[in-house]
Amino acid sequence: MLSIERATEGGVREHGGSSSSDERSDSSPLEQKEGGVREHGGSSSSDGPSFSSAKAENLKANDRSPHKKKRGFATRAIHSGHDKSDPHGALTSPIYMTSTFEFETAEQGGARFAGEEGGYIYTRLGNPTLNELEQNLAGLEGAEACLTVASGMGAISSVFWTFVSPGDEILVDETLYGCTFAFFRHGMEKFGISVRHVDMRNPENLIREISDKTRIVYFETPANPNMRIIDIRAISEIAHSKNAKVVVDNTYATPYLQNPIALGADIVVHSATKYLGGHGDLMAGVILSSAEDMEQIRYVGLKDMTGAVLSPMNAFLVTRGLKTLELRMERHCDNGEKIADLLEASTKVEKVFFPGLPSFAQYELAKAQMRRFGGMIAFELNGGHDAGLKFLNALELCKIAVSLGDAETLVEHPASMTHSTYEPEERMRFGITEGLVRISAGLENSDDILADIEQALIRA
Ligand SMILES: Cc1ncc(COP(=O)(O)O)c(C=O)c1O
Repeated sequence: MLSIERATEGGVREHGGSSSSDERSDSSPLEQKEGGVREHGGSSSSDGPSFSSAKAENLKANDRSPHKKKRGFATRAIHSGHDKSDPHGALTSPIYMTSTFEFETAEQGGARFAGEEGGYIYTRLGNPTLNELEQNLAGLEGAEACLTVASGMGAISSVFWTFVSPGDEILVDETLYGCTFAFFRHGMEKFGISVRHVDMRNPENLIREISDKTRIVYFETPANPNMRIIDIRAISEIAHSKNAKVVVDNTYATPYLQNPIALGADIVVHSATKYLGGHGDLMAGVILSSAEDMEQIRYVGLKDMTGAVLSPMNAFLVTRGLKTLELRMERHCDNGEKIADLLEASTKVEKVFFPGLPSFAQYELAKAQMRRFGGMIAFELNGGHDAGLKFLNALELCKIAVSLGDAETLVEHPASMTHSTYEPEERMRFGITEGLVRISAGLENSDDILADIEQALIRA
């Protein structure tokens, strides 16, 4: 098992924190593999982005292999991180449902706190079940280190409370998940941190707005809910020229479709509640970064500021979810493309927002930085707000629900649900229109989803 033994802020030391890939690919997702169904030319399920596993055993296993080729995404998602130290040889690791860890002697406890000896101390600082998931995710995202937390919001807040102080400035994109927007607007600003929204679709806007006070540049790509795509490489170059950190919310894409760190981002966050867990049965969050940044996020942001610890049970469920991530994402992408095509062809629909449609304004950029286009679609009906609500109420198979990335196709109305945290005029300004409907394409048979959407469009 890889471990971190480093001094913490409060003198507490920890062992068993997530360390990272021993080896990582420096190539961008594009250099790694041309994937995708549309002009990407088809994506096979066996060869995802080629980051190496974080796990020493896997590296050893690779050495024994007659073929030294790097293993595919699904193989790594299934095998990486597994701790083989279980005395019974359990193929699936046991869940360490414990809040604390017993020391053999008082001296041993002191030595662990002082960082003189490895070993677990307390689950808020590290736990073997969480560590297994962290090892796996670090390898899949191509990050040095990973930290799992209680929710996506726990991930975002743990990062920001670690790195910002009163008087600092953060620049964020205009389209953000509603609670992330509220965290910046009602949380950060309350503590004397200036938050400014910049339309990051055009990197020139960032050049104009960034200053020496800017500590963090933050965005989602694709963004929730209107699917705007941000050029990760271009924004990272500008931010780094002012020594600002770049934090990317990669929830919509997952590490299977996009690897922001390979494109220059410093920190990646995920709501693992969504595709990573994949079954709508848990809340979880993930942070990925350099080992140096992670040390601070773990021991300042998580330990002292948010306490947003992931439960071992939920960590186990996310680890289980990762085993089918590639398979599920391929199906989400297939269904997403079919739904987008159906909507675009409908006379009832005014506009479709889906990065895989050649008519989408940022289609070329999406193709360049994503492996495929994901399973999230937004659209507007000709009849606007009222027609949107009628559409939702007419659905028979698809569920009216927030969240995304589940097996079920979920449909919601951002203006009155996930993005009701924005003032109406802010929504208008930031492109979240009152009539927008958001679909998270599920894993059902596509014909059934399409039939349901078609009949609901007729009744809308
Ligand atoms: C893009 C995005 N980021 C972050 C979050 C927050 O995640 P959680 O609900 O796990 O706190 C969400 C939730 O919907 C989201 O859609």
